[in-house]
Amino acid sequence: MTISQTTRTLDEVLNYFRPAVRSEKPYIVGGVPDVTVKLNQNECPLDLPAALKAELAETFLQISLNRYPNEQPDALRYAIAEHVDWDADGILIGNGSNELTYTFGLCFIDSGTPVVLPRPMFALYEKVARLFDADLTQIAPRDDLRFDVPAILDAIQRTQPALVVLTTPNNPTGLSLPLEDVQAVVEAAPGMVVVDEAYVEFTEEVSAQTILADHPHLILLRTFSKACGLAGMRLGFLLAHPAVITEMMKSRLPFMVDRLSEATALALLQHPDLIDQRTALLKSERQKLSVALAALDGVSVVPSQANFLLFRTPLAPETVMQGLGESGVLVRNMGGYPELRGFLRVNAGTPDENKAFLVALKQVLS
Ligand SMILES: Cc1ncc(COP(=O)(O)O)c(C=O)c1O
Repeated sequence: MTISQTTRTLDEVLNYFRPAVRSEKPYIVGGVPDVTVKLNQNECPLDLPAALKAELAETFLQISLNRYPNEQPDALRYAIAEHVDWDADGILIGNGSNELTYTFGLCFIDSGTPVVLPRPMFALYEKVARLFDADLTQIAPRDDLRFDVPAILDAIQRTQPALVVLTTPNNPTGLSLPLEDVQAVVEAAPGMVVVDEAYVEFTEEVSAQTILADHPHLILLRTFSKACGLAGMRLGFLLAHPAVITEMMKSRLPFMVDRLSEATALALLQHPDLIDQRTALLKSERQKLSVALAALDGVSVVPSQANFLLFRTPLAPETVMQGLGESGVLVRNMGGYPELRGFLRVNAGTPDENKAFLVALKQVLS
């Protein structure tokens, strides 16, 4: 493509962007060609069963694609309310939970607003804080990579943040926070607290939902992408006090959830046993993987309560990625997080995929 620069230079045009946007880097997952064992994005390795997809194909034939969906997918809101046992008016559904994090920026962050984020945390929260020009305080982890709760409490006291985010189980570490720690942060916070529970189905810790009714400044984030296996459909949701959800809705674009996604999630929620079986399988596969990795010479594994494991080997992550790639296995190099240089992340796949990963890793390490 030839672009003539008759009226302005490209540099001039790019300078029209807000500095907060210009200084960002594009989000690129990266990969290797010919992946047969894809364990790099904490996805569910199993697609919906063919019978359920066939049922959905029938449903799709009935859906009028020329019509807008509702402003909010109400049928799904009621189904989620029943599934998670929370008031439907206290539920907000988004186009993936990632998309909902922008709503936190729109609702709670003006330029210079204090925000506290422990590290290392799912990178999107930091990005949202930067994009909305927050005054960001990040809290370094303990040596074992767990969130440093006393340091978080200290930062809350010092900076009086309008927003604190916790992720439990945390991505990228897989570590869970005990409910007492979540509660201590919620009680200390003078503003909103978001607890990202994208991996809640995989943890033995108690969900912050047990304290949600008592704390209207608490918001929980959940997703259909992990235990529910619908990452390709883009559905996530928030649980909060109905008044908080009503207020948040004012900042939202309407029609964010399309009719096909709503129908798919509705069909899945009619089979809660399927979600439970798959969650149990992935928890057991994660456990087996963890034991197998720890048994390898020089390999250390972070104890995970999610559907993935953070681990390191005596080799550079790039070397391991390259070697695994040659066997068609893809994991994630976590070196982008300064605290996690040298670490890789692998999600639990099917039993066959996990075996293939372990065989390939043993080969690389020998
Ligand atoms: C902590 C955390 N929250 C949210 C998400 C995003 O989920 P969604 O697919 O709903 O946007 C992820 C995805 O990896 C995650 O790790």
